[in-house]
Amino acid sequence: MKDVIVSMEKICKSFPGVKALDNVNFELRAGEVMALLGENGAGKSTLMKILSGVYTKDSGTINIFGQSYDSLDPKQAQKVGVAIIHQELNMCRHLSVAENMFLGREICGNGMLKNGRMEEEASKILNELGIDIDPRQTVGDLPVSKQQMVEIAKALSINARILIMDEPTSALTAKEIDDLFRIILKLKAEGKGIVYISHRLEELQRIADRVTIMRDGQYIISKDFTELTLDQIIAYMVGREIKEKFPRVDCPKGKKVFEVKNLNAGRQVRDISFSVYEGEIVGFAGLMGAGRTETTRAIFGVDPKTSGEILLDDKPVKIQSPIDAIKAGIVLAPEDRKKDGLCTKLSIRDNLTLPNLDLVCNKFQVVISEKEKALCDKEVKDLKIKTPNINIDAGNLSGGNQQKVVVGKWLARNSRVVIFDEPTRGIDVGAKVEIYNLMNELKKQGIAVVFVSSEMPEVMGIADRIIVMCDGKITGKVMAHETSQNEILTLATNFEKKQ
Ligand SMILES: Nc1ncnc2c1ncn2[C@@H]1O[C@H](COP(=O)(O)OP(=O)(O)OP(=O)(O)O)[C@@H](O)[C@H]1O
Ligand SMILES: [Mg+2]
Repeated sequence: MKDVIVSMEKICKSFPGVKALDNVNFELRAGEVMALLGENGAGKSTLMKILSGVYTKDSGTINIFGQSYDSLDPKQAQKVGVAIIHQELNMCRHLSVAENMFLGREICGNGMLKNGRMEEEASKILNELGIDIDPRQTVGDLPVSKQQMVEIAKALSINARILIMDEPTSALTAKEIDDLFRIILKLKAEGKGIVYISHRLEELQRIADRVTIMRDGQYIISKDFTELTLDQIIAYMVGREIKEKFPRVDCPKGKKVFEVKNLNAGRQVRDISFSVYEGEIVGFAGLMGAGRTETTRAIFGVDPKTSGEILLDDKPVKIQSPIDAIKAGIVLAPEDRKKDGLCTKLSIRDNLTLPNLDLVCNKFQVVISEKEKALCDKEVKDLKIKTPNINIDAGNLSGGNQQKVVVGKWLARNSRVVIFDEPTRGIDVGAKVEIYNLMNELKKQGIAVVFVSSEMPEVMGIADRIIVMCDGKITGKVMAHETSQNEILTLATNFEKKQ
């Protein structure tokens, strides 16, 4: 058997009102990929933050490379060789790629920063990993997937012997995932230990050697990956069997609710036209970067449109800002929850009520707290947001529960069109089904649902009609029950021939 390099025993950790970890055991061996699995809020990130010195444990023992540590701080953990890629991107958005990679361990000489050296080093690491990014670029200008690759490069540049990846692929394209897995297999061959947290269970088959499953802050089981089926893993995670992964409801198709005509907004949104009818969910499929997010942003009034028309119930509506859109009854749950979807420093209550002040204020614009509480309680209950109370900062919720708050604020108002951009990213299997059921509920109420997703099985399983985009244009419209993954992929890669 391979050497045990990390052994955590009986770890406990409480936050106000929550016992996040309750006597949890965890073990990692050299040269293995250990998948750490569990529902949203199970305690995975907390356990790994303890191992990397971000949080201190309340009790329990930690042993790394044969040495016991009573307390660890991030610097110490890094010195021992523990690197963590956090679930929520942790970059300084205004700094360059190189500055981010060397943050806290800058290369200096004669009391000055040696930017050139750092850029050279960063470039070397990025090249080794096959990542095509200019180290001088400002991180905030990069798309989420590229930022995630920088985060990975940064962790690797520290020369870690224990690498923790908390949901590394949630925003990566298929090619980037292939690259990442190649890197993981290489690190494994070098004898490094890798902890891999993911809600994308299918991808585990490609890399996981063992799994540790947690539920509600407790340790459930550790096993060789091949000893368990995916259904067994899910059952251990949620404590029950999930019968239908993609619940579908059939509704009669009613009248046209929403229409977009010849919408243009920059290179990524070119001549987009589509309609959504009562009783249907329209899915947007395509590769990352196809222009789907840009299309939703142009519709919602975040980005300016160059031309095009938007109609609600056959009447044109003018949308120049998100406020116009919300007033008209068109809402968007955006892709990047931390940047666009949530105010992480505000409470769950404030996040849920902010766009709904019109619903909870009296005529003097004063918030009526009973109304506010009722609205929040309803969303917390309907979406099963896991929190001791609604006054907790949204940023302290587990990743998946943050996503539920983003969705929840829009469900609180009676909208005519709800656009979901990657709503299930980072959400566990059980909660995914809850989100699908919610979309189905909206569909039953005659609300037009637009659903952008990069997960092929979920668009095919949930949407009624699928619109495929490639390079800023619509390349096909298909009925979900008549199409195949192959057909969608062909349409999604139907690039214009260059002259
Ligand atoms: N800083 C904090 N303050 C208060 N509560 C916290 C804090 N960090 C985590 N928690 C709580 O601890 C519990 C475990 O959260 P954790 O983030 O570890 O879950 P997770 O398994 O990583 O979930 P996910 O899959 O959604 O990322 C949750 O109930 C969460 O709200
Ligand atoms: Mg987490």
